[in-house]
Amino acid sequence: MHKQTASSQWLSYFRAHKLREPSWESTDSLPLPIGAIASLHDFQRGEKSEGHHFSKLADKYAEDNHDPAYAASVRHLIREENHHAYLLERYLIQSQQQPAEASGLDQIFRFLRHALSLQGTISVLVSAEILALVYYSALEQATSCPALKRLCVIIYEDELAHIRFQMQQLHRMRVKSKRRGVAEFLHTTLYFGTSLALWLRHHRFFRHNGLPLSIYMNRVGKVWQWASQQTSSASSTDQTNIPKTANSSEKVRLLL
Ligand SMILES: [Fe+2]
Ligand SMILES: [Fe+2]
Repeated sequence: MHKQTASSQWLSYFRAHKLREPSWESTDSLPLPIGAIASLHDFQRGEKSEGHHFSKLADKYAEDNHDPAYAASVRHLIREENHHAYLLERYLIQSQQQPAEASGLDQIFRFLRHALSLQGTISVLVSAEILALVYYSALEQATSCPALKRLCVIIYEDELAHIRFQMQQLHRMRVKSKRRGVAEFLHTTLYFGTSLALWLRHHRFFRHNGLPLSIYMNRVGKVWQWASQQTSSASSTDQTNIPKTANSSEKVRLLL
């Protein structure tokens, strides 16, 4: 499929995709799972971004490749990421917690994103999005709060589509590159390095919520394998290919 057709399909997907919220009245007053507050702070900061650098790189790519739908899709993706940050912030406030101020891990991610090309920026962003699948599914399992469970499912589902969108774009750029092998090696190293850093930073949350390092790394590997297969635009923009089940827990466990 030609890249412009694929980008146009993604633009249609993003335009049709509604920003969703959990039912906030269903927030319970029970304590959050062990270690959840610190990790929620990190994810809230990570999701929040103006996306200036990413948008600028996407604009340049779109201009060079006559693919305006790509740049427009990137803006929709950034809007959805900021919506995720809003959901997390609202949940923290609703459960009497302070929203996040700053995060060391997030600073590293921001630095990396600003220093890189479009390919590098997407690699960093999609690595975080793939890891988000592991995190939000663990959180959904760990909490009994209906609002937080729903919030995890909403973000998880959005990220499934984002990962497909980003991996397809990476694939399109890499197939033209002579240094494809190097780029793939660096991306794999970045992903697994970041996975380990995330576990070490939030080991209290992961260990107390069913993900000791061995199980965590196993899931990290599984979602990486799934994401690495999402490079074909032939079926992946088809919304029927985005998992849908009536039972939210089932949906969250789908890949893990
Ligand atoms: Fe997100
Ligand atoms: Fe995302």
